[in-house]
Amino acid sequence: MAVVRVAPVPLLRGTVEVPPDKSLTHRALMLAALSDRSVRIGRPLDSADTAATLAAVAACGAEVTGDLGREVVITGRGLRGLRPPPAIDCANAGTLMRLFAGVLAGQAAAHVVMDGDESLRTRPMTRIARPLRAMGAQIFTAPGGTPPLVVSGGAALTGIEHRLDVASAQVKSCLLLAGLFAEGTTWVHEPTLSRDHTERMLEAAGVVLLREGGAVGVAGPVAGLALPDMDVPGDFSSAAPHLVAGALRGDPEVRLAGVNLNPARTGLLAVMRRMGVEITEERDAPVAGEPCGTLVVRRTGDLRATDVAPEEVPSMIDELPLVGVLGAMASGTTVVRGAAELRVKESDRIATVVGALRALGADARELEDGFEVTGTGRLAGGAMESSGDHRLAMLGAVAGLVSDEGVVVGGFDAVTVSYPRFARDLAALGAVPA
Ligand code: S3P
Repeated sequence: MAVVRVAPVPLLRGTVEVPPDKSLTHRALMLAALSDRSVRIGRPLDSADTAATLAAVAACGAEVTGDLGREVVITGRGLRGLRPPPAIDCANAGTLMRLFAGVLAGQAAAHVVMDGDESLRTRPMTRIARPLRAMGAQIFTAPGGTPPLVVSGGAALTGIEHRLDVASAQVKSCLLLAGLFAEGTTWVHEPTLSRDHTERMLEAAGVVLLREGGAVGVAGPVAGLALPDMDVPGDFSSAAPHLVAGALRGDPEVRLAGVNLNPARTGLLAVMRRMGVEITEERDAPVAGEPCGTLVVRRTGDLRATDVAPEEVPSMIDELPLVGVLGAMASGTTVVRGAAELRVKESDRIATVVGALRALGADARELEDGFEVTGTGRLAGGAMESSGDHRLAMLGAVAGLVSDEGVVVGGFDAVTVSYPRFARDLAALGAVPA
C-alpha cells in the first residue's frame, strides 16, 4: 500500500477540472446497457469502481467500445436482454452491487453470484434483499446479510410500497430499477431526499416516474429504455477535498470547474458557509439534466464551529469526513449527528475519521450516530491510515496541507476507487506531495 507524505503549504491557487461523477457514471453505464440503442457516454469516470461496472455490463453481453476517461459507446441489449455471467466482481463498489442487483432480478437469464473485496463483504445488503424478495425476486445473502449475493432472475416481480428507515440512493435506485420489470407500481418513500440521479436519468431515458408527497414511483412493466447520448459532469464529492483545502489555504482563490451542483449532493456548501467560508457559484448550462457550474473559494480567516443536522446528512453523506478537518480548524465544537450510516460505508467512517483526526492532534470524539470535534484553529499533523477508504485518504491529504508538520497517509492508493488523479490535481494547486 502506498504511503504518501503531504507537506503543509502556505497557499493554494488555480483551477481544478473536477473528474467526472462516479454516481452518474455507474448509472449511465447500466442504463445504456439496458437501452434499445447505441449510447455515447462522454467523459465517463475512469476509476476502479466504474471500471468494475463497465466490466459487469460487458460481461452481461452489452457491446462496449472506447475507454473510460474519454468516451464509451455502449450498444445495449434492451431492458430484458442481458446475458449475465455466473459471477460478477463488484470490487469496492457498493453502488454497482446494490443497483445492479435490482437490474439482475429482472433478467430471465440471470443466475449470478455478486461478490466484492474485503470492505464490500462487510456492507449490509439486507436493505436491498428484503424488499426485492417482497417483490418476488430470488436473492440470497451470506449469513449476516452481507455479500456475496446470489441473484436469480426470471421470477415474476410485483410492485411494492417500501419505506426506507434511512435515506439511501442506492436502495431507492435498486428498487426503482427492479420496478421497471414489475407488474404494478413500485413506490419508495424516504425520510429525506437522497441523491436523485437515477430518477433524472430514468426520466431522460423515457420512463415516466410518479411522485406523491416525498415518494417516487415507477409503474411497470416498462417496455424499454432509450438513454440519450450524454456527457458526465464533474463529481461534487471529488471537488470537496479541494473546496475544503481552498477554504483554508486558497489565495487568492481555488476554482473547481465543471462540477455537478445537484442540490441533493451539495449540502457541504451550506455547512461551509455557516462556518464562515465564502463560496461563489458560477452556473453553466445543465449537463445530462443535472445543474452544473464552477465553484470559487478563498481562504477564510476564522472558521466558526457548526452543528450538522440529521436532515442535512443525505445531501453530504460522502463529504462528512471533511467536516472533521474543518471542525478541527474552527473555533468551538462542530457536531455531526444523525449520521449512523457512516458506520457502514467503505470503512466505519465514524471510527476511522475520529481515529485519523486524533492521530493528527485534533480533539475529536465518536458519537453513536456521528462525531464531534473541538477546534483549535490548527492541526499538528502526524501519520494516519486510509483503512482502504478513498475518502479517508483524501481527508489525510487535505489535513496534511493545512497542518503544522505535514501528514503521512498510509494506504493513499485507495484514492483510485474514485479519483486516481487526485495527487496530481492537488499538486497543480501548489501542494507538494513527497
Ligand atoms: C451513492 C449513494 C450514497 C453514497 C455512495 C454513492 C450512489 O450511498 O454514499 O458513495 O451512487 O447512489 P447511500 O445514499 O445509499 O447511503
